Amino acid sequence: MASVPLSGPYIGEREEELVLEVLRSGRLSLGPTVDRFEELIAKRVGAPYAAAVSSGTAGLHLLAISAGIGPGDEVITSPYSFAASANCFLYEGGVPVFADIDPRTLNLDPAAVEAAVTERTRAIVAVDIYGYPCELDKLSAIADRHGLALIEDSCEALGAAYRGSQVGSHGTSCVFAFYPNKQITTGEGGIVTTHSEEEWHLVRSLRNQGRPEPGGWLEHVRLGFNYRLSELACALGIGQLERLDEILALRAEAAARYTTLLGGLDGVELLCPDDAEHVRSWFVYVVLLPNSGTRDRVIETFEREGIGYNRYLPSIHLQPYMRERFGFREGLCPVAEDVSTRSLAVPFFTGIEAAAQERVAEVLASALQ
Ligand SMILES: Cc1ncc(COP(=O)(O)O)c(C=O)c1O
Repeated sequence: MASVPLSGPYIGEREEELVLEVLRSGRLSLGPTVDRFEELIAKRVGAPYAAAVSSGTAGLHLLAISAGIGPGDEVITSPYSFAASANCFLYEGGVPVFADIDPRTLNLDPAAVEAAVTERTRAIVAVDIYGYPCELDKLSAIADRHGLALIEDSCEALGAAYRGSQVGSHGTSCVFAFYPNKQITTGEGGIVTTHSEEEWHLVRSLRNQGRPEPGGWLEHVRLGFNYRLSELACALGIGQLERLDEILALRAEAAARYTTLLGGLDGVELLCPDDAEHVRSWFVYVVLLPNSGTRDRVIETFEREGIGYNRYLPSIHLQPYMRERFGFREGLCPVAEDVSTRSLAVPFFTGIEAAAQERVAEVLASALQ
């Protein structure tokens, strides 16, 4: 039987054409394609400004700097995310404070965030996990009440909508990411969207070695980084973005097919459905199994049958470097820890065929018997 990969990019002739055009233009960095990609993303998500960067992590790091996070500042974030949601402020000496998640949405529980605020709290990094929008209004209200910066890690959520408009449009600064398993890819890459012209200039300067914005090549007005995204990457991004609606529709269709195939299986819990205020942009397809033993059994069967999988997502606070440095232990965030031991990503990508999904469902069902 043919194997089914976990993930894969969806790239066509248009992307090849656009990348080739840049390649032949001789202008490979800091040119019109970066500007164009930024304009198109800004328009798509409904933010006035966008700055392309070399990765989602780089974008989050620059927003952590923009938020003024420094040594000893506490930052509240989700334990059920990719490590970069916390690493972004660790780079600046920030101290992670993990608030537990809502068991239904798997996003930060606003009540847990409120309870975690101290006089040392400087910011909140909220995550739209698996493309499902976080509780932005409640988190914004907490941030406003306590004078905190709010950063939205939307790395998995391009195309998601909250309260009727696109994630990115609500006034919060967001980061979207373009690694090859994301909704659209630039190979490696990310983008910061912001509603502040000042922050936009700052991010553009920081990503470009601290050069003034606008300004000269050999002048550095602040400590910066090389977090630029190339013209080639942005050309690929433009080609992908032109097809974003098609991509989102195909992913939603594939997700709906899995929901039908897996929804009836005993012992399989699915991600929460959309409601009037939250529209998910499908990033990965994750199922929750009854316990870690069942997950191990499913993984064994998947390996034997050539089905791709990943243990999305381990709790960040229990990663070895977090335990070592901050002394975090089991029991800190029981909901996240429970979900981490039994959640599993199954093969999911734009254009996955119905037959492949049916095979995944059959293999999963057989492992659960
Ligand atoms: C929630 C979340 N945050 C941050 C990142 C980091 O993005 P990148 O891999 O582009 O640095 C990712 C990427 O996987 C992510 O899923």
